[in-house]
Amino acid sequence: MRGQLRSDDYTGLIRLDGQVHVVVGVGPGIGRETATALAAAGAFVVCVDVDEAQATAVAAEVGGVAAVCDITAPDAFAQVLADAERRFGRVDGVTDVVGLVRWKPLPDAGDDDWRWQSDVVTAQAVRVLRTSVPYLRRAGGGSLTYIASVSAFTSAPGHGLYGMAKSALLSMVRTAAVELGPHGIRVNAVSPGATLTPRMAADPRFESANRANAARTPLRKLARPHDIAAAVLFLSSRLAGHVTGHDLVVDGGLTNIWPLELPAAEGAS
Ligand SMILES: NC(=O)c1ccc[n+]([C@@H]2O[C@H](COP(=O)([O-])OP(=O)(O)OC[C@H]3O[C@@H](n4cnc5c(N)ncnc54)[C@H](O)[C@@H]3O)[C@@H](O)[C@H]2O)c1
Repeated sequence: MRGQLRSDDYTGLIRLDGQVHVVVGVGPGIGRETATALAAAGAFVVCVDVDEAQATAVAAEVGGVAAVCDITAPDAFAQVLADAERRFGRVDGVTDVVGLVRWKPLPDAGDDDWRWQSDVVTAQAVRVLRTSVPYLRRAGGGSLTYIASVSAFTSAPGHGLYGMAKSALLSMVRTAAVELGPHGIRVNAVSPGATLTPRMAADPRFESANRANAARTPLRKLARPHDIAAAVLFLSSRLAGHVTGHDLVVDGGLTNIWPLELPAAEGAS
């Protein structure tokens, strides 16, 4: 009896061989690395981006296919999934990486700002969910993973639009997990802290902030795109077979820090 309750192949549980995964937003940072991680685990990856050159380059790198689609356009993603299922037979997982940001103090944010921020984070995420569910159900279940942000549960000046949109995204993930669990569909999020994407690494405005932020982080470094991709791979795989409605924070421990000054603890370094 005890033997029946054990898995004898933990490392095998991370494999995605024979599965078709769709990554939306295969930008040069987190999206590209996510496609790489899923492909390394054996998945065939459909690399989706509004930027054709980016989608094509990443698809070539990971041995997948490119699909060009503006995820904020109402019917575009439906076409991508229909093509994927017709050509490759199934869709087992979808990861939505897209999330742009408009920094603005709340009192200055107009209706257009709210609409834009909601479109590129929350509204598109809901559309990805709604569109994906029938495909994942036909595959016998699957996984949906969203990239959220620590901005969903921390505050900084100018982060209101983005933070509220990412916070709503996490709420959607929790509810969707409850609604879709009976169909074998797991819905999770990964919340990165500051992540040293090629774009951030090349921007001189971030140079000193990146150094200071790394020094302040318990693990003494910023995340790299592969740290986020590894979390997506875990959540997409059978290793996370009983994990749903979860937000996996990948921030080197930064958001755990008690923010107030304290007397130095004995033995602390
Ligand atoms: N980089 C960070 O420090 C950080 C921190 C926390 C959260 N995040 C989140 O991680 C995710 C990825 O961040 P990144 O910095 O790697 O992004 P990025 O801007 O480098 O890549 C995003 C990709 O999405 C594509 N894209 C944009 N709009 C699209 C649309 N309408 N339809 C289809 N594709 C579209 C872009 O062409 C780009 O290739 C985002 O959701 C972001 O909010 C990033």
